[in-house]
Amino acid sequence: MRPATSFNTPTAHTITLKGISKIYGSVAALQPTDLGVEKSEFLTLLGPSGSGKTTLLNLIAGATGPTTGAILLDGRDITQTPPRERGIGMVFQNYALMPHMTVFENVAYPLRARRQPTKIIREKVTEALERVGLTGFEDRKPRQLSGGQQQRVGIARCIVYSPAIIMMDEPLGALDKNLREQMQGEIKRLHRELGTTIIYVTHDQEEALNMSDRICLMAVGKVAQLGTPDELYFQPRNRFVAEFVGESNLISGQMSGDGTMLIAQNQSIAVPISKRTEGSELLVMVRPENVRICSIDEPIEAAGNFLNGKVATSSFIGGTTRVTVETENGLNITAKVMSVRAESRRKTGAKVRVAWSAADTVVLET
Ligand SMILES: Nc1ncnc2c1ncn2[C@@H]1O[C@H](COP(=O)(O)OP(=O)(O)OP(=O)(O)O)[C@@H](O)[C@H]1O
Ligand SMILES: [Mg+2]
Repeated sequence: MRPATSFNTPTAHTITLKGISKIYGSVAALQPTDLGVEKSEFLTLLGPSGSGKTTLLNLIAGATGPTTGAILLDGRDITQTPPRERGIGMVFQNYALMPHMTVFENVAYPLRARRQPTKIIREKVTEALERVGLTGFEDRKPRQLSGGQQQRVGIARCIVYSPAIIMMDEPLGALDKNLREQMQGEIKRLHRELGTTIIYVTHDQEEALNMSDRICLMAVGKVAQLGTPDELYFQPRNRFVAEFVGESNLISGQMSGDGTMLIAQNQSIAVPISKRTEGSELLVMVRPENVRICSIDEPIEAAGNFLNGKVATSSFIGGTTRVTVETENGLNITAKVMSVRAESRRKTGAKVRVAWSAADTVVLET
């Protein structure tokens, strides 16, 4: 690894989207959206297939024009600027390398297109390849490389001309799990070294949580929630966010007069809110790692919630075991607990109590 040099001196840039939207015929691929990407930020667009992630990238890159709204680069309106002049680099999932060109020529391509002198091209390509760990691969053709190496060429070709903003659309989607994790680390390292603003697309929530400064979670053409990985995980706004990011137990009920939530006849749980109209519908969430499994007669602390039931399923997945308990009032509550040896594990059908603290109960928008 090489320290940052004069090449790619980090002059990070901002992107501002104002009421940007894209309609294809009757499909609103993106509803009017406001979004600001900060200097040197690693922002991830996360969301299910068809939620508008690629559409948003294409609008920023200029590959497609918006139906409404404006795009600003450092406060300057670039909505009508041709793609080439926006200075926005793109890394694609399918690498999009030119098969008949060598690694060197693939990486040199954007510089040649910009008519840079040969000496500069040689220097910049050499350094870009060094940054992605491909020194010595200059003369190979893409088909003589592994998937991970091809993706590195794609990244080198993007960083070689120091674009103002780098966008990556599912760049690791075609790689296996181990390689994906390794490349995640490398992309993060590159981001630290270059200091460039990066907009990254994935539908893998773990990848998003691991890599991003902020995550923009998309749902059918709309921003469901924008926030830090912590905010999305610990304070999901609604059911969609709670279910898409991490695992969740959802419990619905009504607010009762004493500030608790009634979830079944004669069964209430403590929730961390008080100002709700009595009888109003509530939806709350508890993460499985905040749920404990205990004996039916175990005392519960004052601010604790508990429900009795029996073990429905128990899956040992290495370091943790996922236990689902069917409660007496018909809920399925999943707990993720540290694994113990088989002889000490709770058996299916065993009578148990699930317990969690009121503070770990998150109230969602209904
Ligand atoms: N050129 C097009 N013409 C018509 N509809 C389109 C076009 N491009 C995208 N769409 C539609 O817009 C919606 C958003 O598509 P988009 O490609 O942005 O989704 P995505 O979030 O990138 O999904 P994926 O994770 O599958 O890549 C989809 O319903 C898609 O079918
Ligand atoms: Mg896409």
